[in-house]
Amino acid sequence: MISEARKRLIFALDVDNFEDAEQWVKRLSEKVGVFKVGKQLFTRCGPEVVHMVRGEGGEVFLDLKYHDIPNTVAKAGAEACRLGVRMFNVHALGGREMMEKTVAEVDALFPRGSKDRPLLLAVTILTSSTEQTLCEAGIERPVVEMVPRLARLAREAGMDGVVASPREVELIRQACGGDFVIVTPGVRPAFAALDDQKRVTTPAEAIAAGADYLVVGRPISAAADPVEAADRILEEMASALEKA
Ligand code: C5P
Repeated sequence: MISEARKRLIFALDVDNFEDAEQWVKRLSEKVGVFKVGKQLFTRCGPEVVHMVRGEGGEVFLDLKYHDIPNTVAKAGAEACRLGVRMFNVHALGGREMMEKTVAEVDALFPRGSKDRPLLLAVTILTSSTEQTLCEAGIERPVVEMVPRLARLAREAGMDGVVASPREVELIRQACGGDFVIVTPGVRPAFAALDDQKRVTTPAEAIAAGADYLVVGRPISAAADPVEAADRILEEMASALEKA
C-alpha cells in the first residue's frame, strides 16, 4: 500500500528556481510519485524543469490552469502532452467547447487507454473564490452548486477529473461517479501547521472521502525532516487506502 500511496502523493514544487526544484526532486523522488509544477516555476524555468523531474524518475502535474479560446487551450494541451506530463489542468469555466477541443487534441496524440496519455483535469471554482467573488462576476449561484455543476460539465466534455478542495470531494463523487479523478490540495496532517490554508483535512480524511491524489507542499517542505514528514504522510495515506 505504501507504493500505491506514493503514486498518489503530489509534492508542490513551490520554489522559484531550477536548483531548488532539482534538490527537492532528488530528495523526495523515492517518496513522491508526482511533482506539481505551477505558474511561477514554469514561467521561470520553462520545459527544462519538466524534463528534469522526469529524468529523476518523477511524474509531473503541470498546474498552469489554461483558460482561453478553445483552439488556444487545445493547442497548449497538446504541447503539455508532448512534454510528457502525467496530468495538466484547464479552467472548467472556459466552457464545454474549450474542454472538448482539448480532449480531442489529446485523443489525436494519445488515444484513450494509451500508456502515456496524461490525465486532463479541470479546476471548478478556485477555493480562493467566495460567493461574493462569483457575484461580482455576475454568477449568482452558491459555490456548492457551481462546483458539482462544473465538474459534471467537465465530465461530459470528456475530461478525466477535477482539482478540488477535500470538502468538495463528496459532492463531486455524487455528481460524477466513482471513476472520475479527484485531486485535492489543502491537505494537512495533524503534525503540520495550517499556514494560509483554512479549510483543510488530514491525508487520511481526504483519502476516506474519495480523493485519488493529494497535493502537499509546506507540510513536507517546511518540516524539520522533509523525508520523514513524507513518510508519515505516506503511512497515513496507506492505512486509509487499506480501509477504503
Ligand atoms: O503548501 P501547501 O500544501 O498549502 O501547497 C498546496 C499547493 O496546492 C500550492 O501549490 C497551492 O498553490 C495549491 N493549491 C491550494 N489550494 C487550492 C488550489 C491549489 O493550496 N485550492
